Amino acid sequence: MSEKNPAKRAYVETYGCQMNVSDGELMEGILAAQGYEIVRSPEHADVVLVNTCAIREHAESRVLGRVAQLNGLKRERPEMVIGVTGCMAQRMGDDLLERAPYVDLVVGPDGYRSLPSALGRIAKVEEPRRRNQLTVLDLDPVENYQGLEQRRADGPMAWVPIQRGCDHRCTFCIVPYVRGPEKNREPGEVLAEVRGLAEQGVTEVTLLGQTVNSYRHGDTAFPELLRSVARVDGIRRVRFTSPHPIDVTPALVEVMAEEAAVCEHLHLPAQSGSNRTLKRMLRRYSVEELLDKVDLVRDAIPDIALSTDIIVAFPGETDDEYRETLALMRTVRFDDAYTYKYSLREGTPATRLPAEDFISSEEAQERLEGLIDLSRSIQSEINHSEVGRVEEVLIEKDGRHSGQVLGRTRRNKVVVFDGDSARIGDYAHVALDRTTGATFAGSEAVDAMTVAGA
Ligand code: SAH
Ligand code: F3S
Repeated sequence: MSEKNPAKRAYVETYGCQMNVSDGELMEGILAAQGYEIVRSPEHADVVLVNTCAIREHAESRVLGRVAQLNGLKRERPEMVIGVTGCMAQRMGDDLLERAPYVDLVVGPDGYRSLPSALGRIAKVEEPRRRNQLTVLDLDPVENYQGLEQRRADGPMAWVPIQRGCDHRCTFCIVPYVRGPEKNREPGEVLAEVRGLAEQGVTEVTLLGQTVNSYRHGDTAFPELLRSVARVDGIRRVRFTSPHPIDVTPALVEVMAEEAAVCEHLHLPAQSGSNRTLKRMLRRYSVEELLDKVDLVRDAIPDIALSTDIIVAFPGETDDEYRETLALMRTVRFDDAYTYKYSLREGTPATRLPAEDFISSEEAQERLEGLIDLSRSIQSEINHSEVGRVEEVLIEKDGRHSGQVLGRTRRNKVVVFDGDSARIGDYAHVALDRTTGATFAGSEAVDAMTVAGA
């Protein structure tokens, strides 16, 4: 191999949560720093990394299908390297190499620093068909990627990971096993990164972690970090995800209420409205405690929008307990809900529940549909009641139809209105004219003073 080869091209395709999107940017940054050219499609790439999610079975089957499809490209160009990274890579490890023998490299969430060297070792084997397969699967109790640059797309918004891993053991969840224990980044480094982003023109940042509000580093707990980030010059909006309800504390709510940049939106993953189910999920709060958190937040920030995650058909969930979840939805009236059927994840504690507790997929589907109907109708009622409001919208991208742009309000509602690409990154005052129930169509409000003076 000659040193004078043109830059190798790398393509990263990400599935799953925002943390994964952020990890994809990290991998791109690591590879770009080693001279790789980052490309936007796999067709001409020398290295293709599929950055995966393991949260539900469905997420994994999609990836297996996609990797098989990529193998079609590899048949034409055997020198192409296919890597699988992220949570599913960590969970399946060597099994993945057996099920998809055309995969060259499997790297878990703590192994990205060694991506370039691993790729180098694969490339050293001259005969592509006899290449070694490599796995990098050690979970590292300290790796938080300090000192490495993410490669972000230009734009007004950025994800900023402040925490990796999770110290909880919710009995349904695979995350602690594939991402290891909670590791928090140094607050000074987080702030320096946010300042740098602001200097590049970013005005909205979202702080990321599996239980982002349990962040603590030395004397700095999450509320203080949030306050400091909110005060960085140039940052107009701060969001954070995903918080755990038990760490929604008076101190956090105070910062949210006081700091102008912190958006009026909170994701509060309830998971269930049944105390018995919450206990069996090991969520560490009761329905009553969750409702107290809702009151705490709404008392301090009356206009706040709330979203949630709910799992139906957790093993052993009775009909009555399912109805308690519906009742919780009616009580809280979430602006948005991400709803899931329980998906069995090998190695998690819930798999050891008695076989007769597992709920048929037909029953689970029925419960899910009932929950979706309810949460959509609540969302639609809330959104219809908001038609006529004028809200600040950050324009994020072009809309689906030409001549339209799409943005979000501070309360995280999606609005489409007339405008062109040149407006991306602008803040506009937009009247919410109509709603489909889920999203809004609006029109840019003409400044009252301009009208008066015209
Ligand atoms: N704290 C994490 C939670 C990750 S998982 C975060 O950053 O969001 C996101 C959501 O997926 C969870 O809140 C839960 O509602 C759902 N989920 C997790 N494991 C699941 C499983 N085994 N089956 C169905 N849904 C699951
Ligand atoms: Fe999963 Fe519970 Fe942690 S949902 S990510 S184990 S807080």
